[in-house]
Amino acid sequence: MKNQYDVVIIGTGIAGLYTSANISNKYNILLITKDKYIKSNSYLAQGGIAASSKNDEDIKSHIKDSLKAGNNKNNIKNLNILIKYAEENINNLITYGVDFDKDSEGNLLRTLEGGHSKPRILHYKDYTGKEITSKLFSYIKLKKNIYLKENTTVINCKKIKNFFEIEIIENNKIKLIYSKVLVISTGGIGQVFKYTTNSCVSTGDGIVFAKNMGAKIKDISLIQFHPTAFINKKSNKNNQCLLLSEALRGEGAILLNKNKQIFMEKYTQLKELAPRDIVSRSILKEVEKQNSNDIFLSIKHKEKLYIKKRFPYIYKKLLENGYDISKEDIPIFPCQHYLMGGIEVDENSKTNIENLYAVGEVSNTGVHGTNRLASNSLLEAIVFSKRAAIDITKILEKNIIEDISIIKDLKILNNTDKINSINNTDMDEIKKEINNLIQESMFVNINIKKAIEALKTSKILLKKIDINISTLTKEYIETKSIVSIALMILEEVVNNNDK
Ligand code: SIN
Repeated sequence: MKNQYDVVIIGTGIAGLYTSANISNKYNILLITKDKYIKSNSYLAQGGIAASSKNDEDIKSHIKDSLKAGNNKNNIKNLNILIKYAEENINNLITYGVDFDKDSEGNLLRTLEGGHSKPRILHYKDYTGKEITSKLFSYIKLKKNIYLKENTTVINCKKIKNFFEIEIIENNKIKLIYSKVLVISTGGIGQVFKYTTNSCVSTGDGIVFAKNMGAKIKDISLIQFHPTAFINKKSNKNNQCLLLSEALRGEGAILLNKNKQIFMEKYTQLKELAPRDIVSRSILKEVEKQNSNDIFLSIKHKEKLYIKKRFPYIYKKLLENGYDISKEDIPIFPCQHYLMGGIEVDENSKTNIENLYAVGEVSNTGVHGTNRLASNSLLEAIVFSKRAAIDITKILEKNIIEDISIIKDLKILNNTDKINSINNTDMDEIKKEINNLIQESMFVNINIKKAIEALKTSKILLKKIDINISTLTKEYIETKSIVSIALMILEEVVNNNDK
């Protein structure tokens, strides 16, 4: 059994896959994911990828819009890098076979989303994330130096001398693997919330591993809410809400109150196309005013054929839930969507721990400020993963990391004993309690009183997990991550309030 790699990447969203694709073929890379590779936030991404051309004016306006959406709290150096390297990386994706929608003359089609002063978002229908992820996956499957472990849960990561020791559960056995470089690309933390657009794997494990190794975590309480999630309470089994892409509003969809009247103009001149934080807060103001949670998204004024062609995924998913978006107004509500903060990294995605990198949503490059501009996330994933890959190749090439075989006490653990039967009911209860606490204290506007109480309860829950549970299973690891992330978020909120 192979248990030594040059690079281990935890997480198989666009950031993880693109990093692996761009590291030199000379190096052995292992990609690990808890589930199937398709379970990621990237795969679910609908709207698209904001990508300006290299034209100076385009670059300037994209930077300006990102700063405005981010409330001028963005890291300027990294934001410049983000926008400057957009086109180069888009062309790179196209060489991997990624398709974007084009007009009849073959020109790339660009759409609008909230906060964008001009159409610059490339898309593939309403499943851009799936298109990019699956093409990247096909590309890396052909590479002989890249290995993949699906359905493999990482329990913990440690830095030992110059190496990383990664403890995993694979086929119900605990194993240890070693790498010279470790890349964390585990995505978001949506499962900490009661309602989220995030995939079921988004429990924040990577942030917990990084923190345990001494990596700096920054702005973990900077959470973005998507204004338009469809919440079907009847069949919502695992708190993952169906996203109704902002591209719908970019293509003319409007928001309506309970009396089916437009209302956004009361709150912002930009109406439906204001940045997300403004749209979400406006919806909540209208909810309070009308004393009802009934808010709708409407695009039924557009041709049915157009809707089916441009938004086939949303059309089909809503139909499965009993709604025809070409004929009806669709009930929506804001819902947790994205983490702006995370593992602090530099312009090459390096953390403060030597040879530890973080890419994609889990990382904090600072490009988004306090509120991400729509569709800048996939762009961040590719631009900063490419930089990570270049940096990783450089350090491996310099041969400054000694060979792993010098670790004298290299352990090959293949232990089934540690895995006992799990009490999933306990885990479910704890998870639900955290979901309710976080939802109440952190939903769109922070409720500091509730956050202080939630912090106390989360500390008790973390102790309860440590004391009562002797099992090492995926459910245990995920629940522990959820509680730990909740604690980090609440501690930051309470500390910021005390300042
Ligand atoms: C969407 O399609 O509305 C989501 C895009 C994003 O998160 O930027």
